[in-house]
Amino acid sequence: MTIDISTIAVEQLTPEQAKQELARLAADIVNHDQSYYQNDAPTVSDADYDALRRRNQDIEARFPDLVRADSPSEKIGVAVTSGFAKVNHAVPMLSLGNAFNAEDVHDFFGRVRRFLGLKDDEQIDVVAEPKIDGLSISLRYENGEFVLAATRGDGREGENVTDNVATMHEISKTIAAAVPDVLEVRGEVYLGHDAFQAINEQRERDDEARFANPRNAAAGSLRQLDSAITAQRPLQMFAYAWGEISDPVAETQWEFLQALKRWGFPVNPLARICTSAEDAVAYHQEISELRSDLDYDIDGIVYKVNRIDWQQRLGFVSRAPRWAIAHKFPAEKAQTVLKEITIQVGRTGALTPVANLVPVTVGGVVVSRATLHNTDEIARKDIREGDSVVIQRAGDVIPQIVEVITEKRPADSKPFVFPDHCPECGSLAVREPDEAVVRCTGGLICPAQKLERLKHFVSRQAFDIDGLGGKHIDAFQAEGLIDTPGDIFRLHDKHEQLRQREGWGDKSVDNLIASIELRRTIPLERLIFALGIRQVGQATGRQLALHYGTLAAWISEMQQATDERQANPDETKKPELVGEAFTRLCDIDGIGISMADDIVQFIGQPQNLAVIDDLSAALNVEDAVQPDTSASKISGKVVVFTGSLETISRAEAKATAEALGAKVTGSVSKKTDYVVIGTDPGSKATKAKDLGIPVLSEEEWQALINS
Ligand code: IVH
Repeated sequence: MTIDISTIAVEQLTPEQAKQELARLAADIVNHDQSYYQNDAPTVSDADYDALRRRNQDIEARFPDLVRADSPSEKIGVAVTSGFAKVNHAVPMLSLGNAFNAEDVHDFFGRVRRFLGLKDDEQIDVVAEPKIDGLSISLRYENGEFVLAATRGDGREGENVTDNVATMHEISKTIAAAVPDVLEVRGEVYLGHDAFQAINEQRERDDEARFANPRNAAAGSLRQLDSAITAQRPLQMFAYAWGEISDPVAETQWEFLQALKRWGFPVNPLARICTSAEDAVAYHQEISELRSDLDYDIDGIVYKVNRIDWQQRLGFVSRAPRWAIAHKFPAEKAQTVLKEITIQVGRTGALTPVANLVPVTVGGVVVSRATLHNTDEIARKDIREGDSVVIQRAGDVIPQIVEVITEKRPADSKPFVFPDHCPECGSLAVREPDEAVVRCTGGLICPAQKLERLKHFVSRQAFDIDGLGGKHIDAFQAEGLIDTPGDIFRLHDKHEQLRQREGWGDKSVDNLIASIELRRTIPLERLIFALGIRQVGQATGRQLALHYGTLAAWISEMQQATDERQANPDETKKPELVGEAFTRLCDIDGIGISMADDIVQFIGQPQNLAVIDDLSAALNVEDAVQPDTSASKISGKVVVFTGSLETISRAEAKATAEALGAKVTGSVSKKTDYVVIGTDPGSKATKAKDLGIPVLSEEEWQALINS
């Protein structure tokens, strides 16, 4: 029997298992993101999704060297949908890491203490305040005048909602006090419970669908194309952070909140300074008791390190600041009956079981589906059709099944038998050794895989064709307008058929064709990512493009690697024993044998090559350009820190080096460019000297990076 690595505790994973697990998590999370953001059809509960991200984060923390180039921790959130102009955030709008219990909060304080190298008795003050369940917004003021409001979007690029925000009474259009010339105030827009009720009652009278919860109602109101409608919705805001700012205004988070108040922004009156982890946990408890009396929804408490100089030193780990954390409230639970387990087929053929539930309200939201992850999850919890189950919904939208109430199980119930054939195409479904997922082997023969691949192809990180989203792909495929990616670039031949679609006309067809034409020229990295090769995310797409330069070079190398692999299918450790092209592939940063195998398997399928051939004739693929690394002296260099550093912690040193484009590794080899030594450096320094690698003191290192 094969072991299911996904059930092994993080502390017990071997490095090899950790590597596989990170690969699985990256692929799973991308799939979930896709169903959630692109297809508006989540396949996993938020709690389960959080759990996946958390496991990924924990494994990365334990095995920092195994962090993948396409790690999900590098990505932020919701992609922008069209309808509003796009706005680039000069300072990204990030998300927050989560804490679920007191221990996590203590760990957070511990991490901050270690990172900053603080003594055990040095006090760490944090500002604690409720985490509002609304939408984040960034308000830009120039010379005290309100000029722009943008949603978070994916964190880097949001939507321009200035006209709508301008209708909000709580937001000053002019700040009377003296403020920095450029000031971006960030906060959360929300709807109060009374307002939410009133809106829903009105919607019922107007025969419109009710909003599921205040947050959805607030989102719907803020993203109205008609500001007159927004004006009728009493949106409110709490301000809590800054984005771009031309002059610093405070030394602490707390002082910043006081400044916001003076300038006339609403600041949450429950915000408070906590002086320790215990104090923070007590505040969390206190607010959780108040929660049901508040007029707005909150889903936890946010703690932010008070000293801004410390915040700056702590910096960010791609998705979230190290200096802040969200301490969530426990999930809400409810009981219902599982009617049926159905199987969904994803882009890479993964069969995902979905629980169809008798609809039930959990925390104000009606829930009728939950994902069951995989066959092991079903077996472990012994989940069966007809069972009464306890479901839980943490924070956001969809729930997970936490437990089966076996006493209520019908007498004739049978264990669920996972299909051994794909329900969509009938191909054999197999589970690879050490993998948790069962996959359909049909490839492009499977209509479900074909469709999901097309959706991936047009997704935001891939071809990102305006006006051609997942729903259009569904419809166009059903209507026989497209079958393969290349067909998209032949849609101009179908003008007549498109024009006759319901609700369409010449203008909509012209717009679509124009946005397709805009994408006919595409960077190689996007094309590689768009192909939907298992495990190949955006970052790997970029690596491959940079490494091979042109589409022709990439394909010919991949074909050679494929031939080599087919001749040597059994080697699992040493790429050199497989062949030269295969080794070159595995040598690329972030690509190991398992990913290389997925790539050669993909290239080895004639239908996939046919898709690529077809595309290369239709597209103008831009060669990859090597980035300019001249800016930082250590960009692209491999650095090892050893010994105990005096002036900064190891974590901070690593973070700074990485921010300047260096790669930090744990052991010295011929590939190492610099070894930086603290006190008691030990054998790594000796090895560096033996290999003739420059050894730097801390001061020399500082001089190098500051030069
Ligand atoms: S601070 C860089 N404070 O939670 C830190 N965020 O899960 C910025 N949120 O995107 C976030 N209430 O939209 C902060 N009091 C609060 C918040 C809060 C709600 C949201 C915010 C953020 C998300 C992260």
